[in-house]
Amino acid sequence: MKNYRRLLQYIRPYLRRLGIAIICIICAASANLYLPWIIKDMIDDVLAAKNMAMLNVISIGIVVVFLFRGIFYYGQSYLVSYIGQRVVIDIREVMFKKFQRMPIAYFDKHQTGETMSFVTNDVAAIQTALVDKLIELFTEGSVLIGSLVMMFYLDWKLSLLTLIVVPMVGYAMRIFGKKLKENGTVIQERIADITSLLQESISSIRTVKSFVREDFEIERFRKQNDLNFQAAMKNIKLTSLLTPTVEFLAALAVTFIVWFGGYEVVNGVLTAGALVAFLTYAVNLANPVKRIARVYGQLQQAMAAADRIFKVLDLEEAVTDHTNAIDLPRVKGHVTVDNVSFSYDGEHHALENVSLEVKPGQMIAFVGPSGAGKSTIANLIPRFYDVDSGRILIDDHDIRDVTLHSLREQIGIVPQETTLFSATVLENIRYGRLDATDAEVVEAAKAANADEFIRELPEGYQTQIGERGMNLSGGQRQRMAIARAILKNPQILILDEATSALDTESEKIVQEALDKLMLGRTSFVIAHRLSTIFNADQIYVIDHGKIREHGTHEELLKLNGLYSNLYNIQFRS
Ligand SMILES: Nc1ncnc2c1ncn2[C@@H]1O[C@H](COP(=O)(O)OP(=O)(O)OP(=O)(O)O)[C@@H](O)[C@H]1O
Ligand SMILES: [Mg+2]
Repeated sequence: MKNYRRLLQYIRPYLRRLGIAIICIICAASANLYLPWIIKDMIDDVLAAKNMAMLNVISIGIVVVFLFRGIFYYGQSYLVSYIGQRVVIDIREVMFKKFQRMPIAYFDKHQTGETMSFVTNDVAAIQTALVDKLIELFTEGSVLIGSLVMMFYLDWKLSLLTLIVVPMVGYAMRIFGKKLKENGTVIQERIADITSLLQESISSIRTVKSFVREDFEIERFRKQNDLNFQAAMKNIKLTSLLTPTVEFLAALAVTFIVWFGGYEVVNGVLTAGALVAFLTYAVNLANPVKRIARVYGQLQQAMAAADRIFKVLDLEEAVTDHTNAIDLPRVKGHVTVDNVSFSYDGEHHALENVSLEVKPGQMIAFVGPSGAGKSTIANLIPRFYDVDSGRILIDDHDIRDVTLHSLREQIGIVPQETTLFSATVLENIRYGRLDATDAEVVEAAKAANADEFIRELPEGYQTQIGERGMNLSGGQRQRMAIARAILKNPQILILDEATSALDTESEKIVQEALDKLMLGRTSFVIAHRLSTIFNADQIYVIDHGKIREHGTHEELLKLNGLYSNLYNIQFRS
């Protein structure tokens, strides 16, 4: 019930249209009610009384009524679809916004396909419910009510007798409804599983092919698909049972009418025409009841989808600005990490009591074995995650006391893997600062040693790249990322293994670009190859989430510890 109301909130902006739509629905449905009345008039007034004038009136009446019915039908169908589509589009947008705001931790735990399924499949389920089913529900509902009114007008005693079955129908629908909704949740989850598998398998197609695991993937998909089939069939079993159950109850009602109505006609209480009209209304009544029962089943599945959607919308956007967060002023780049501990899962420490200080413009480097916690430190500075204890200060502001936007605007990150969007080269670099002019973009590309290769692309800066366009090499991508960072012009830089995927040749070009980028900025460099960090102001050796050694390259070599060990391994040859 709560979710129904919540869904209705999305309809609120379109209340005026909904009002007109309902009027159209009622008018169109009333026209339907005219038909049994014609039969009554035909039998009682025309055929029994042999009245030709009445016959003409009835004929003209039919034409006029159905003309208007057509007009109202158009109005109802157009307006209800309009509202349904709008609501769906609004919900989709709200979902997209929500996912843009979710913390990175959410995406750590959920598959991309699952997330996509919310925005596609669950929203689609609601769309069916709102657009097609809602029209049906309104139309059938008004036919139902209209038929009831006419029945009571014709013979209230007979009507009351007929209505005995109503509580039975209601009871059946409640039982089936609960099961349908439960199963609806399962169906939506299964669809999400399929989407996840699809997404994973397609995006990893290179891995799949390199291991020749096509058949393995097909089998995995077949199993998942079959689970979906089973869930769907369970639903079909339920809805297929619901319809005959309701129909049987309707047949009971008709039996009452035939028997008791016939008795009344025989005794002269009711005219023959009235009984035929009554029966027609009653059958008219059975149809909507049956259809409403079916629509009800489908609505239950849609509500399961709505449940899922609202659950996502209610998730906490963990890392957010607290109420009196201020905008971080343009920073100098003084960063202090003060006794920070952090854990991703609340169990295993990824960082333990880490403290360090970087003066404006300094370059510091993190080295250490895989899984040591280097990237984790880099993740905490732009607040992708919040520290568990301790604090991080930038120019003496605790980063939790400033707005996320102003914090991240001043931090540039060059990751190991650069994501390029499906857009032109120009637009991809401009991602670093959206209001940069074309000239500024070219300037940044030059500084990143990227201008030359870009000009050699088929359409230069206008070349389409990303998934559906040109593919760039690792080194070219890296330089695009550096150009982005240069354009953003942040005071603080984080380079996480920015050159580790490159061969020595392109590493040199990229390293040159990076050196230019780091000039005058506070930089955090994570590197496996020590050659890139010899000239760092401070090198921190991290292991198992703790700082083990720190100092300059020369100091650390003299220490004869972990660092000199690493150095010897890498430079023995
Ligand atoms: N998103 C995450 N969720 C849970 N645990 C994580 C997550 N990211 C990293 N970890 C864990 O935290 C620890 C530190 O990981 P981190 O990525 O900081 O290592 P790293 O030093 O950058 O290693 P590498 O050199 O391989 O990149 C590891 O034990 C890792 O398993
Ligand atoms: Mg890492």
